[in-house]
Amino acid sequence: MADLDDLREGTNFGLGIDKEGQSFHVKGAENLPWGMKDRLSRIFNPKSGKTVMLAFDHGFIMGPTSGLERIDLSIVPLIEYADCLMCTRGILRSVIPANTTKPVCLRSDAGTSVLTELNDNVLIDIEDAIRLNASAMAVMLAIGEAAHEAKTVANLYKAVDGASRYGIPVMGVTAVGKQMARDARYFGLASRICAENGANIVKTYYCEGFEKVVAACPVPVVIAGGKKLPEKEALELCYKAINDGAAGVDMGRNVFQSDSPVAMIQAVHAVVHQGITPEQGYEMYLDLAK
Ligand code: 5RP
Repeated sequence: MADLDDLREGTNFGLGIDKEGQSFHVKGAENLPWGMKDRLSRIFNPKSGKTVMLAFDHGFIMGPTSGLERIDLSIVPLIEYADCLMCTRGILRSVIPANTTKPVCLRSDAGTSVLTELNDNVLIDIEDAIRLNASAMAVMLAIGEAAHEAKTVANLYKAVDGASRYGIPVMGVTAVGKQMARDARYFGLASRICAENGANIVKTYYCEGFEKVVAACPVPVVIAGGKKLPEKEALELCYKAINDGAAGVDMGRNVFQSDSPVAMIQAVHAVVHQGITPEQGYEMYLDLAK
């Protein structure tokens, strides 16, 4: 049997007591039932406590955006390197092989497209998440947008009510309207509102003062990558986010729009799980991209 020091060092596959005295490797999940913990453990690696989610749900508002025209060619080869797949039910059913065995964070709201007013979303049927064996449901919140705020908070609230009945965690996604400040005050507010309404994971953006966003959020925070950056800068973004307390990334464009997506996702994985520096990550990227 492992002794207490082993457990404290996390050698018991992260299932023991960590240095902060937390006995489960996912923040804020201590009191959740077994099914929730099992699903969260499929997303967050029990050894590192971190995750690399691959986001390719963009088409539900943007259509066949750059890099996602042929998901069978651009995304399917990346699946083996991701810890979790984040996509819509349509793409999951039509393109993603059902034998990948990767956990799925199902995009569970739908509504407007880039052609109309963004963020006017409704919740899709919770039963569909069960049919698709989702490990989590993702629902967007438009905090600060008067026209959509209450509706999207209600979407999250309803998703948590329904999903928790079946042991499915919910990820709150903080959308950023064009007029919204991208600072720690805004992301701290939006992230906390997600958690207060029952989200088990929060997806937000990296910003200056990010450590305050994480500290004030009682559940794990993962970051979106945002618009495509040069590979080295994207790896720096991952490194800084992890260093400031993120539990992982849920990245899309900076992976699938990279010159070498297979190399990029492996470099991101090493930065997130092994804590290698962005310089080492970039070297790894260049080596793998050759
Ligand atoms: C939009 C999303 C996207 O999945 C998210 O923005 C991640 O993609 P990227 O890294 O390309 O920003 O949740 O609501």
